[in-house]
Amino acid sequence: MKNTILVTGGAGFIGSHLVEALAKEESSTIIVFDNLSTGCLENIPSQENILFMKGNVDSEVDVAHLFRSFSFDYIYHLAAVASVSESVQQPLATHRVNMDGTIYLLEFARAQEKKVRKFVFASSAAVYGVEPTLPKTENSLIDPITPYGIDKYASEKYVTSYSNLYGLNVAVARFFNVYGPRQNPASPYSGVLSILTEVTQQVNRGEAAVFQIFGDGEQVRDFVFVEDIVQGLILLGRKVESQANTYNIASGEKHSLRDIIATYETLLDMMVPVAYNEKRPGDIKYSYASIEKIKKLGYQPKFSISQGLEKYMENI
Ligand SMILES: NC(=O)c1ccc[n+]([C@@H]2O[C@H](COP(=O)([O-])OP(=O)(O)OC[C@H]3O[C@@H](n4cnc5c(N)ncnc54)[C@H](O)[C@@H]3O)[C@@H](O)[C@H]2O)c1
Repeated sequence: MKNTILVTGGAGFIGSHLVEALAKEESSTIIVFDNLSTGCLENIPSQENILFMKGNVDSEVDVAHLFRSFSFDYIYHLAAVASVSESVQQPLATHRVNMDGTIYLLEFARAQEKKVRKFVFASSAAVYGVEPTLPKTENSLIDPITPYGIDKYASEKYVTSYSNLYGLNVAVARFFNVYGPRQNPASPYSGVLSILTEVTQQVNRGEAAVFQIFGDGEQVRDFVFVEDIVQGLILLGRKVESQANTYNIASGEKHSLRDIIATYETLLDMMVPVAYNEKRPGDIKYSYASIEKIKKLGYQPKFSISQGLEKYMENI
């Protein structure tokens, strides 16, 4: 069946992998809507069934133009200021993108004549905050501690309320720590594994580089390979059972930063130079997910940390 699929933030790290996977279905047309603030056109595969429209999700004029130009079967909303630290530095500017942007999209989606088959929202494990009970299930206490986490949670509530109030088909995904090709290491706010990867490349080129660890390196995370996130997102789009529901998407594995560095050393047959720094205020020591809920929809992570890192190394 022919589908028109909107991916906001489709020029970014995760969005571009989603676009690539969705575009394999030749009968689908993928519309990438992105302002290229952190994403770039090179991330988007050049294929006939992928169209790009530049615009801001936080501009009513731009979103109106988008919905005048196309009528969508599926909407994956990933555009956001994805940096927690930036949200702390610029709470109001972040809020306009991460919260107002979500409401503009919801408004135009509900007003669309053709019924949207699913609106999938990209949320984050940041909504859980620092409460220590683990693993995080979808019913764990919600206590976000940054503007980023607060806007993600408020957006989640808007998204699910649009199902209850207006009958929009929706689902919410909470990503844990995502890694993989095209994650930009240049930003100081980037995922830790893109920075670690960059350091190993610099060392291999003979440049002086040291990986900075904040704290003792024993902090534990659930690192999930980007293709598993894509698998989960597509599932949430397709399954009727995901209607108005919220799901963690993660690997279900937990690894300390020191474990990860050891895995890099084995994979690349090198020593990674590291330096230890004071723990950063607000850093969470342990965070990992229960993925039992999304597994019931058929989700099965395909990448262990070493398989994911191996594929990452092959593709940079
Ligand atoms: N990377 C992770 O580990 C992680 C974890 C949890 C949740 N998320 C969420 O996943 C989504 C994608 O994140 P990512 O890691 O790919 O980050 P990214 O910065 O690579 O992607 C975000 C994309 O949104 C675009 N964008 C930003 N502001 C916009 C605006 N006002 N209008 C239109 N486009 C805009 C950017 O240009 C970029 O292409 C985000 O919603 C993020 O909050 C990411």
